[in-house]
Amino acid sequence: MPESLKCVVLISGTGTLLQALLDTIDTGGLAATVVAVGADRQAEGITRATSKGIPTFVLPLRKGQDRELWDRDLATAVAQFEPDLVISAGFMKLVGTHFLTQFGGKFINTHPALLPSFPGAHAVRDALEAGVKVTGCTVFAVDEGIDTGPIIAQEAVDVLPHDDEATLHERIKIVERRLLVEVVKNWRKDG
Ligand code: GAR
Repeated sequence: MPESLKCVVLISGTGTLLQALLDTIDTGGLAATVVAVGADRQAEGITRATSKGIPTFVLPLRKGQDRELWDRDLATAVAQFEPDLVISAGFMKLVGTHFLTQFGGKFINTHPALLPSFPGAHAVRDALEAGVKVTGCTVFAVDEGIDTGPIIAQEAVDVLPHDDEATLHERIKIVERRLLVEVVKNWRKDG
């Protein structure tokens, strides 16, 4: 039996990617433990975690607030759970140097486009506006840039003629949940 991988998951939204990890863990398909869920707002993903008895923390980054201080607080909050892996699963904030110094190499993110195409916060909308016929999702290691880190896994999703942002994003997320679970499954603590 492989040793359980301790994961901290960061979210900002509904947390369906988080849910996919939790469901796979519950059914014995993933030797991991979500030791904490963090967010920058009171999001549905926090409610999901709380209902499963998982420790949570919420650190909003308010307008005008010192970003470096927030970054340090986030790193401190994550560090207390001593994770093997930190997963940004729909966390819509960029972390800073302090966080990356502490967790670089074991911090991954998932993005709803085939990077390096369509980085940023509106990947699905941007792909639709560009008129691409194929988009997808990417799991990558986070570096200092905006969605620029080394790519770990990618999968394509067709854009259908009548797609809008919601329908396309939902189809991407179906693939994305599986891809993220696979990456975590294959993650080795010691690189
Ligand atoms: C996912 O599609 C994820 O890739 C995206 O937020 C969604 C979260 O879904 N993240 C980004 O766009 C980050 N740039 P969920 O809240 O249902 O898990």
